[in-house]
Amino acid sequence: MCTLALKKIVAPVIFIAVTFTVNAQKSTSQKVDSLLQLMTLAEKTGQMNQYSSDFTATGPVTKDGDKQNQIRKGMIGSFLNVTGAAKTKSLQEIALQSRLKIPLLFGQDVIHGYRTVFPIPLAEAASWDMAAIERSARIAATEVSAAGVHWTFAPMVDIGRDPRWGRVMEGAGEDTYLGSMIATARIKGFQGKGIGNTDAVMATAKHFAAYGAAVGGRDYNSVDMSLRQLHEIYLPPFKAAADAGVATFMNSFNDLNGIPATGNAYLQRDILKNQWKFNGFVVSDWGSVGEMINHGYAKDNYEAAMLAANAGSDMDMESRAYIKHLPQLVKDGKVKMSVVDDAVRRILQKKFELGLFDDPYKFCNEASEKQQWNNAAHLEAEKDMARKSIVLLKNSPLTPKGGKTAAALLPVSKEIKSIALIGPLIKSVKDHLGFWSYDWEDDTARIPSLYDVIKKRLNSDESLFYAKGCEVADTSTAGFAEAIEATKKADVVIMYFGEDRMMTGEAKSKSNIHLPGVQEDLIKAIHATGKPVIVLIGAGRPLIFNWTADNVPAILYTWWLGTKGAEAIADVLFGDYNPSGKLPMSFPRSEGQIPVYYNYYSTGRPAANENDNNYVSAYLDIPNSPKFSFGHGLSYSNFQYSNVSVNTTVPSGNQNLIASINITNNSTFNGEEVVQLYIRDMVGSVVRPVKELKGFQKIFIKAGETKTVNFTITTAQLKFYNDKLQHIWEPGDFEIMIGGSSNNVKTVKIKWNK
Ligand code: BGC
Repeated sequence: MCTLALKKIVAPVIFIAVTFTVNAQKSTSQKVDSLLQLMTLAEKTGQMNQYSSDFTATGPVTKDGDKQNQIRKGMIGSFLNVTGAAKTKSLQEIALQSRLKIPLLFGQDVIHGYRTVFPIPLAEAASWDMAAIERSARIAATEVSAAGVHWTFAPMVDIGRDPRWGRVMEGAGEDTYLGSMIATARIKGFQGKGIGNTDAVMATAKHFAAYGAAVGGRDYNSVDMSLRQLHEIYLPPFKAAADAGVATFMNSFNDLNGIPATGNAYLQRDILKNQWKFNGFVVSDWGSVGEMINHGYAKDNYEAAMLAANAGSDMDMESRAYIKHLPQLVKDGKVKMSVVDDAVRRILQKKFELGLFDDPYKFCNEASEKQQWNNAAHLEAEKDMARKSIVLLKNSPLTPKGGKTAAALLPVSKEIKSIALIGPLIKSVKDHLGFWSYDWEDDTARIPSLYDVIKKRLNSDESLFYAKGCEVADTSTAGFAEAIEATKKADVVIMYFGEDRMMTGEAKSKSNIHLPGVQEDLIKAIHATGKPVIVLIGAGRPLIFNWTADNVPAILYTWWLGTKGAEAIADVLFGDYNPSGKLPMSFPRSEGQIPVYYNYYSTGRPAANENDNNYVSAYLDIPNSPKFSFGHGLSYSNFQYSNVSVNTTVPSGNQNLIASINITNNSTFNGEEVVQLYIRDMVGSVVRPVKELKGFQKIFIKAGETKTVNFTITTAQLKFYNDKLQHIWEPGDFEIMIGGSSNNVKTVKIKWNK
């Protein structure tokens, strides 16, 4: 197939003029230039045009006649939502009937796995395990590249400080440093040993930029922020992506300080292409070129195309503004030919790097596509990732009596002989998959529910009782009585509550992020029976469940964990896996507290403690702290931190500072712990956050063992953007903090001299 394809494409091109495809001596950029010289303006704008297939969409799809004919005319450079080796191959064959035989690029939202659905990205972020996250992306790339796809629209590297925004599920949470590390890991995973390998796909850093800061957490809403905040908090994960060699960027729907990101030259030209020297291409978000009309920034599609192209958006996803208006805009002198050439060059460069000119069908391999279906190694890796993503929020001793501490409820004791399973997610299947997992919708038969998994694990002398109790968003308590009856028969109750998978995701913003419906009432009713209660919460975002958090002794946050999610949960419940996840986002106490994040600025009137609201910066009705802090997550091990120390309390200049701490696993469980390093700059020329994550290490400590963890700190970690947007560090006093959560650290003070 390869040789045939090569002949098919190469021969006529030689005939036309330049031998760009076969001249091995030529560099890719020379080949791109040769091809560019052959292209008409219409063909160039064709390369800048991307259509969706007609079957999946996150926005309105314009039906526009005969797409096949448009491919033949060279009017389409790329498709999204076309997957499958056979389908992509058939469209590619049509592209090879066009005058210049430029192959199509196929893109797809492979956000957390493809055939093997991995945990949602926010859940994976809770693992703080870069190798596992990279492997997850690697597997996704392997599976989808075999289905003819060259390009994923992931990772989303938007900082998410607002859980009302449904798209927090797609990101790495609230922290810039963690987010940057995860961006790098995902890109390495997707792009593997480099694009051009048949198991690698181009990654996309999206949504450029500041989309996560939409006012009120309402999707697609405006963003207004200081440039200092933009550079310090929101841009670093994008910079990390560019540094990691990400092939493409996607711009975003929001306006940033009054200029829509799609038409924003400061973002796309000044920062991305000039300062960061990004040499890939920028795709618009779905219809975002045309949406500049709704923003009131462009009069019509003609003007929208002009603004977007001039601002550096290279490819138009689904607006049809480029294909319709760019040729005329060039003729009218509104868009320079050099702007079009630059965009087309960037796109063609990637097509060459992918090797599509040598073999346009190299990703369309039906045999290898089939191998990805039910791939055992991939499923095993998925289960492992799912286990790593689970966060043990609470595991209090059941009945502390007479000064003695009784055992915690988790892991479920081997003595337990009967279990009641209650709640709307116990038997659910699709919800494990989470939002952005549509490729699996038609094949859920092999995905077990938690009920199936637990039932399978039980011995013959153990019994299981089940009642749903209510639906996820139920307003009726009619099912409570049956749930209470089931509870009464059992030694322990495991309840599984949360959101269904369509409640968090794109266009899934919510003003109320409490556990939906009557679920928390059911928890209260079951708890009132006096039976020991374990609550699992499955959701795409941090939810609010204060009563449960205060009263239920054992709580696991299980997010949406993917294909093997239920097995992963059971492993944690029954002690076959010791949980080690840590929250990548703060969990608010109430919606009125949002945004709540750990790296806030100190005010002029900081509260002295959680109860202080006497003319200080505080609420009258709730403490300032979140319900669960960034970095929080327990283990079946009991990790004790001691002896925080530094090699010098007065480092200077470029000297390395070594900060150390001892961690003892005071338990009978071997376990993993994420040791977190935070720094506070005590006095700055601009106000600095009360703490900022600057490092972390995930370590394994055997039961009873003590390990010493060292962090090397340099002045690079002290840098911030001053009021002139210079990235600098300032000598002075700092606090070095190390701990197992942002709200539980040991501190040492130092003075860093010039
Ligand atoms: C989303 C993007 C996505 C695109 C294509 C848009 O609505 O914002 O993240 O890649 O659709 O599906």
